[in-house]
Amino acid sequence: MLLNNKNAIIYGGGGVIGGAIARAFAREGAHVFLAGRTLDKLEAVASDITTAGGAAQIAQVDALDERSVQNHADDVAMKAGSIDIVLNAIGIFHVQGTPIAELTLEDYMSPITTYTRTNFITSKAVSRHMVNKGSGVILTLSTPVSRMAGPGFMGHSVACAGVESFSRHLAGELAPNGIRVICLRPHMIPEATEVSSHSRDIFQINAELAGITLDQMLTGAASSTLLKRLPTLAEVANTAVFMASDQAGAMTGTVANLTCGFLVD
Ligand SMILES: NC(=O)c1ccc[n+]([C@@H]2O[C@H](COP(=O)([O-])OP(=O)(O)OC[C@H]3O[C@@H](n4cnc5c(N)ncnc54)[C@H](OP(=O)(O)O)[C@@H]3O)[C@@H](O)[C@H]2O)c1
Repeated sequence: MLLNNKNAIIYGGGGVIGGAIARAFAREGAHVFLAGRTLDKLEAVASDITTAGGAAQIAQVDALDERSVQNHADDVAMKAGSIDIVLNAIGIFHVQGTPIAELTLEDYMSPITTYTRTNFITSKAVSRHMVNKGSGVILTLSTPVSRMAGPGFMGHSVACAGVESFSRHLAGELAPNGIRVICLRPHMIPEATEVSSHSRDIFQINAELAGITLDQMLTGAASSTLLKRLPTLAEVANTAVFMASDQAGAMTGTVANLTCGFLVD
């Protein structure tokens, strides 16, 4: 198994992507620590993992609260002995589709503040433990809007570009301590819109503004990629497993471009 005996914290572990990656980490032998705000969501993922024979623990943690995150990370490191992998997979609803002349400063800043703040807080909290051990993998999440022209997602675009920039900088800072940092950048994941992801509400509003259905929007997005499809949840989770594993030991400071060729380098 690729992640045998690794301890992994997943913030937003009750979410669609956080949960899928947590299940994949556990399947590969990691002990996963699911952190999030809503216990029911965390319990559902933990139950799937333990039913499948894996190891999972849950904790109520606000990933925007520095003290809460630090206390939790310290507790995991003390009880488990190490923090080997961390993923920040939190997601929040934010306003899209409003032209700049009508966009409030608060709505513009909301995703920027949230995503850059939470990645700073969670990376800082685990970095001390990883530095002491001399190893670790920090995974962040972005979207293709980091490099797309608008209209309608100005705040989220800056937020995603910020997370990618943060990940790159952090990789340089922590590399001397044996810590790798990788940003996962999936395109829209159709399965996420079929369940509880906050992204469904955002995509739905965008579709309505464009005068099309959500399915039509997803079909259009798929047709604009090189592979003429969008990524699956399993592909995103399996990439996260690989990136977190020693198999990807030569990789840091990069973006795993899971856009099916919508963006090419
Ligand atoms: N879905 C997609 O197609 C897609 C594609 C590319 C990238 N992404 C990115 O991937 C991330 C996750 O997306 P998703 O689809 O998995 O969303 P999701 O299913 O809505 O999950 C997000 C999770 O974040 C948790 N959360 C929100 N604020 C939190 C906080 N302050 N502290 C702790 N947990 C918090 C939520 O739990 P609570 O409800 O308890 O707060 C929820 O479980 C987002 O950043 C999104 O932009 C998504």
